[in-house]
Amino acid sequence: MANQEDFFKKVVAHAKEYGFIFPSSEIYDGLAAVYDYGQLGTELKNNIKQYWWRSMVQYHENIVGIDSAIFMHPKIWKASGHVDAFNDPLIDNRDSKKRYRADVLIENHIAKIEDKIEKECAKAQKRFGDAFDRQQFVSTNARVLEHQQQIDSIRARYAECMNDNDLAGLKQMILDLGIVCPISGTRNWTDVRQFNLMFATKMGSVEGENDTLYLRPETAQGIFVNFLNVQKSGRMKVPFGIAQVGKAFRNEIVARQFIFRMREFEQMEMQFFVRPGTELEWFRYWKEERLKWHLSLGIDASNYRYHDHEKLAHYANAATDIEFLFPFGFKELEGIHSRTNFDLSRHSEFSGKKLQYFDSELNESYTPYVIETSIGVDRTFLAIFSHALKEQTLDDGSSRTLLSLPPVLAPYKAAILPLVKKDGLPEKAREIMDLLKYDYMLQYDEKDAIGRRYRRQDAIGTPFCITVDNDTLQDNNVTVRHRDTMQQERVAIDQLHTYLNQQLKPLR
Ligand code: GAP
Repeated sequence: MANQEDFFKKVVAHAKEYGFIFPSSEIYDGLAAVYDYGQLGTELKNNIKQYWWRSMVQYHENIVGIDSAIFMHPKIWKASGHVDAFNDPLIDNRDSKKRYRADVLIENHIAKIEDKIEKECAKAQKRFGDAFDRQQFVSTNARVLEHQQQIDSIRARYAECMNDNDLAGLKQMILDLGIVCPISGTRNWTDVRQFNLMFATKMGSVEGENDTLYLRPETAQGIFVNFLNVQKSGRMKVPFGIAQVGKAFRNEIVARQFIFRMREFEQMEMQFFVRPGTELEWFRYWKEERLKWHLSLGIDASNYRYHDHEKLAHYANAATDIEFLFPFGFKELEGIHSRTNFDLSRHSEFSGKKLQYFDSELNESYTPYVIETSIGVDRTFLAIFSHALKEQTLDDGSSRTLLSLPPVLAPYKAAILPLVKKDGLPEKAREIMDLLKYDYMLQYDEKDAIGRRYRRQDAIGTPFCITVDNDTLQDNNVTVRHRDTMQQERVAIDQLHTYLNQQLKPLR
């Protein structure tokens, strides 16, 4: 755990040091859970969005993309259920004046008991060595069983409180479990209150005269309210999808873990409209398709897992998360939800406009059912970035920091490096820059010894270093060095386009 924490600190420090991510408003001491993307972070983030957009919109004839406004009519959030139900239960400690999510306090308490189970397992593993059978141990060891029973009973009581919206019951649980504030160490808790996560603002110059507007907490509603516009103007036939990438805002009470949980973030969402009755088939299709997208980035499958929801939102008839092994454990990266016809029906009801589709094959009108795929851009960034960051010891005993980003997402595709700063090599290197810069993001670097320049590119994830040496002037060949293997090969300058295209082809 300590190692994981140290590693996570390295991720945050590396992101800042190399211009990927900065704390927002840093010279004013920052703004909690808000971050700015720097010069390299912006490139990586744009490449992630483009990779998603291509796979969803360009590769699917029946999916189109839109860009709806962040401000929307306030009734939309009433219809979607966000005004009444997009809440977190919060509790304050009177001594530290710190605010917590009641459910997170309880989850953390459960995590501590789970840690105890892990410790018992580690001890037994040491004792029994290769003969250790974890499954058998956790199902028979008295201490582990006692801990597991505690966890089960806490979870059951917690689920009951949440289902009944029993806020007093939640507070009583926190008291009964002896949970203390991590800052003050006391149990001097206020009552639990529901806290709506939407940021509210006012439109117009005179406050109070106009309706409250909300910064959208998801991009999905912009798609639902444009369903008819897109279907009619694009002559779309069910099944079809509408995709969108854009900012979303949530006033998270516990915003932490860097860009994992932010107050301003970006989502890539797609709503797929289908015939009623076919939705579970399509749900399975998108569940598989989305995992394939993640795997196409070349990250090992053991880093991903599905988490099927047992308890479903009232409007959903199936839901799953794709979880990723972040430096702090498996956590949600993407959600895939079968949302029935809930959203379109509610918007029909609240707007008075019929949001239906006439299916000419069936000769009938219906409200389509919807499968949603919803993934955070920032969370994807964190997953890819933290997985790519490595400290490597090389054969000669030296070490290097390597950011082995999928080449298709790397901020710079190649660095152009004259071996020395004389003998006409910089001029030749500049010629190569001019040849390639219209097709690839490149970096030119002539400062320091070549080894140090390679290290700089390794640390920012550049997949190829193209070195110009004295032979280049004679034979028009350059040395291409591969970031991950450090292997080098000679390539003719007039073949560089074909070579790079081949290496950087988006995976399918
Ligand atoms: N339209 C469905 C929806 O918004 P969600 O599970 O609340 O579902 C979808 O969010 C995805 O958005 C999550 O899987 C996560 O990747 C990302 N996300 C949600 N809240 C976030 C936050 N506070 N910071 C960063 N990413 C967030």
